Order: sequence, then C-alpha cells, then structure tokens
Amino acid sequence: MRILFLTHSFNSLSQRLYVELQARGHELSVEFDINDAVSEQAVELFQPELILAPFLKRAIPESIWRKQVCLIVHPGIKGDRGPSALDWAILNRETRWGVTVLQANADMDAGDIWASSEFDMRDATKASLYRNEVTEAAMRAVVLAVQRFEQGGYTPQALHDIQHSLHGRLRPLVQQSNRHIDWQHDTSATVLRKIRSGDGFPGVRDCLFGRELFLYDARPEHTLCGRPGDLIARCGGAVCRATTDGAVWIGHLRDNQAAHPFKLPATRLLGDRVSALPELSPGPRSGYRDIWYEQHGDVGYLHFPFYNGAMSTQQCERLRQAYIDAKQRPTRVIVLMGGPDYWCNGMHLNLIEAADSAADESWRNINAIDDLALEIINTDTQLTIAALQGNAGAGGMFLARAADQVWARQGVVLNPHYKDMGNLYGSEYWTYLLPRFAGQEKAERISSARLPMGTDEALSLGLLDAAYATDVDEFVQLTQQRATSLAAADNFETHTHQKRQQRQADEQHKPLAHYRQQELERMRVNFYGFDPSYHVARYNFVYKISRSRTPLTIASHRRTDTPLRRAI
Ligand code: COA
Repeated sequence: MRILFLTHSFNSLSQRLYVELQARGHELSVEFDINDAVSEQAVELFQPELILAPFLKRAIPESIWRKQVCLIVHPGIKGDRGPSALDWAILNRETRWGVTVLQANADMDAGDIWASSEFDMRDATKASLYRNEVTEAAMRAVVLAVQRFEQGGYTPQALHDIQHSLHGRLRPLVQQSNRHIDWQHDTSATVLRKIRSGDGFPGVRDCLFGRELFLYDARPEHTLCGRPGDLIARCGGAVCRATTDGAVWIGHLRDNQAAHPFKLPATRLLGDRVSALPELSPGPRSGYRDIWYEQHGDVGYLHFPFYNGAMSTQQCERLRQAYIDAKQRPTRVIVLMGGPDYWCNGMHLNLIEAADSAADESWRNINAIDDLALEIINTDTQLTIAALQGNAGAGGMFLARAADQVWARQGVVLNPHYKDMGNLYGSEYWTYLLPRFAGQEKAERISSARLPMGTDEALSLGLLDAAYATDVDEFVQLTQQRATSLAAADNFETHTHQKRQQRQADEQHKPLAHYRQQELERMRVNFYGFDPSYHVARYNFVYKISRSRTPLTIASHRRTDTPLRRAI
C-alpha cells in the first residue's frame, strides 16, 4: 500500500514505524505537518491509499480526513484524549497504559478505534516510556490497523459506543501547576514522578538561587538527606537536593533567560553557586553515576547511560579511562552496554553550542571520541561487544562498530549517518570500520544514505552481528548469557589470536593513524572552514528550530527522480 506519514517531525517513533512498514513491503513517503496547504499538496502528489499520523501536534485538516482514511497514533489507552496522555499516566500513577490507533474526524482523539495495545508502566521518564513501551505498543497497533485496513471489511469501534466501559477519558494539557514541586512537603518518590512526567519536554519549572529553571534527569539518592529543598551535594554534572524523606539528584537544567536557553548539566548551568557543595564519588546507592563497571566471571560490563546519549569531551575521557581500567582486569570479554534508552548519539551538541568556541569544542569532542574508539579497536586480549539496548545515531553508531561484535535489541532504530548535521564528514575511524565489517560496496551505501534503519537491514549490511529480544530486561539477560558463552568457548584463544593477526595485517596495509588524519582533515573543514552548514545545523538542532520543509530523503513524493511523483 502507499502510505503517507503526516507528522510533526521524523522522531524516533515515526522512524520505527517507517522502518517496520517498509520492511512489510509498503511504499512510504513522509510530509512534515507545516501547514494545511503543504499537507494537501503532499496528498495530491503521493496519492496515498492511507495516511498515518505517528506524531502530530495539531488536527489533520478536514479537507484531508473527509476524503481519505487518516489513522492517528495516540499514546494513550482507549478512551484517553488530550495532548498530555503520557504526562497524566505518570502523574496519576497508572499501572497499565497503552497506545490507540484511531481515525481522524472532527473531534480530536475521539475518532473510531482501529487498534490498540497496552503495556505495564515503569518508573521512568516520559521520553524513556515513549521510546520503549509506547513505541513497541504503537508498532503492534499500527501493524494491526494497517492490516485491517488493507484487508477491508473491518468496522472500527466507535468511541461513544464503548466509552462508558473505559478507564480512559478526556484530560486537559498538563500545566506547570500540575507538576509543581513543593520541596517542604513532597517525598523523593513524588519529586521523581513530577520531574519524570515532563522529561524530555517541557521540564518542571522550579526556582533555585532566585532563578526560574526547568528540571530534568532526576535520579533517586538512597543515603543522603538534609533540610527539605536545600542543595546538599554535587556529583559529576548533577546536584543533590533534599526532600522530606531523603534526596534526589538532578542531572540537567534549562534556563530560558540564560544566554544558552537549552538543557545543560546542572553544575555547568549553576556554576560558582554550587562549587562549594561537597563533591561526592558515585556508588551503586549514592551519587549520580553516568559510568560504571561490573564484572561477572570472565565478562566485564561497562555502562554509560549518558542523558540523551550525548557524549561530551569530558565524558569520553572518563569513559576511556574506565575502559582502560576494564582492559587491565583479568576478563575475556568486555561488553559496552551504553544505556537503556540510548547506546550513544555521538558528540554532545548542547555543550558544543554553549562553548566559547563551538569549533574548538567540536574538535576536542571528536578527538576524545576517536581516542576512545582507538582504545576499543586496539583491545587485543579481550573480545569486545557493543550491546545496543537503545538507539544509536551518528558517531555513536560508528563508535559501536569499533567493537568486535555489535549486538542490538530488536526494534532499536539506528541512524548510521552524519550528513544531516550540516554535511558533517564524521570520524570515529568509520572509513576503516565500515569497509572492514560491511565490505566496500555496502560501506558506500551506508555512508551515502541518510535514513534510519532497523535491525534486519543493519544485520544484512554488516552494521550488526546479532539482534534479539524486544524488551530491554530480556535483552540484557540474553546478552549476559551470550557473553558468558563467548568467554567460555573452547575456541576463545583462536578468536583473539585471529583478531590480533587481522589487526596487524590491517595496520600494515594502512595505519589507523592515517584513517584518523584523513577523517579529521575533513572534520576540520566542517568546523573551521568557510561553509557554516555544520554550525547552522547544530544551532537548529539544539534550539529545536522546526524544519520549514521535509527533507527529500524521506519526502519521496517531492523528488523528481522518483516514479512516485504524480502530476497535480
Ligand atoms: N547532543 C546533544 N543532544 C542530543 C544529541 C547530541 N548528539 N542527540 C540527541 N540529543 C537530544 C535531542 O536534542 C533531544 O533532546 P530533548 O530531550 O530536549 O528533546 C533528545 O536527545 C532526543 O533526540 P531526538 O532527536 O528527539 O531523538 P530521536 O530518537 O528522534 O533522534 C537522532 C535520534 C540520533 C537521529 C537525533 O537525535 C540526532 O540526529 N542527533 C544528533 C546526532 C549527531 O549529529 N551527533 C553529532 C555527530 S557525532
């Protein structure tokens, strides 16, 4: 079927549905919801059989839904309506939630129901639930709805016929007052719930040092306590604030009035005001841990759940040191776990944007990632695994490929390209790693494409070596089993011997230093050259400037080189 995606942006959920529906043989095109005329034109050009709206912030124009079936993905259970579905689910401590696919009509979110799917709620941020449970449920419901539509003869459920029996109902937009933290009365659990309900967007408005700030990235503290509302410690980029029954860590803040009004690590944003706070070393029960190592038998696991998968210069340096320490331990396998939401999304674009010289900070950040990649490539006593629990993009994906094997959770979305960031050339030794693991021809295909990719395609292209389990916990468990078997394999020594020989042969053919030098020459031009594309793209990304048109890579109906384009 020809399916047009009408969406506010090509976010992770849209990307996942795109990948899944394309794999099922559907012909897809995407249009950003910019205005009614643009959407109408897209329908005219593409002549879709079905319109799917995975992520919309406003209603579909009547001129479209009157003529054509439009299916809307709503991140709420049957009967739930309104713009803050997940926020309310977290605030109201729902134990089950879901996704409903409904047909657009005159009443927002009240159209006939084509399919729905539910899941158990988890203590996590809104963004994490959206990228995991909601995305999986949306995938199941959309696939079913599309099947029902394609087969014909299915009568969707009218909401008013069943509404009386449903828990879901119309709820208003969540206001800051609904999430307001009362530090003198709220427990840690309440504070965490309020912050998580607005994380990643819009954050919880709060006041610190007389400044209005938005809070993100809250984590529990299990040991410290203090006078409710007081800042009592710092750890890495985070600050610890006392509650009525303990304390919570706040990793990231946003100050709308500041020179850099986007999310930044809390200590970076608060600067001198928190420099006198006691500095804590992170541990399993106390402090804000963004890097830690654990070992089970012959396998070492390095975790690095950086907020939003962004990796700053300093985080790369600390991770590299943790990796060097891990290499020195008597293990046979090292598993690079990333975090449950993201494995890694490359350089930390917010910190680069906030730096005195964005070019200099970009240069430092890419060199720090390269140093880490080099350390991974040059591991000769252990086998290395990158275990992708969550999505990976740009330099993060190529960093993963620096490991001997890349295993991924089924359903993760990979964006193995840099070009969307103002034609960035990229580094992380990708010019060595891609041909080595994917072969020359596939390497060229990967590096010239700008599209998201699912695990099946990534496996066929050599970007991944294995994909299994859809659930994060199950993925972690199976990863441990697989890594343990690999470490115990009879032919383990043969593997490491072959690996060393291969590396030596590759080094003789062309030293890694040459690959790096060539990549960085191109990056230097991106950072310091006359063409400002990278700086403009980064600014737009960090400041979340909406695109004024849909990229032609996904708006196939607007390309002149495609047979899909039909005369108006
Ligand atoms: N640096 C800083 N923040 C980043 C980031 C990065 N490299 N990558 C993602 N983020 C942030 C986004 O700003 C967003 O922030 P929010 O919490 O304020 O909304 C959040 O992570 C989620 O990103 P989003 O783009 O909404 O997620 P997605 O899953 O739809 O898309 C990517 C994933 C990787 C395609 C997209 O985030 C991206 O292009 N990132 C930039 C990658 C890059 O070019 N890195 C530099 C080159 S190495």
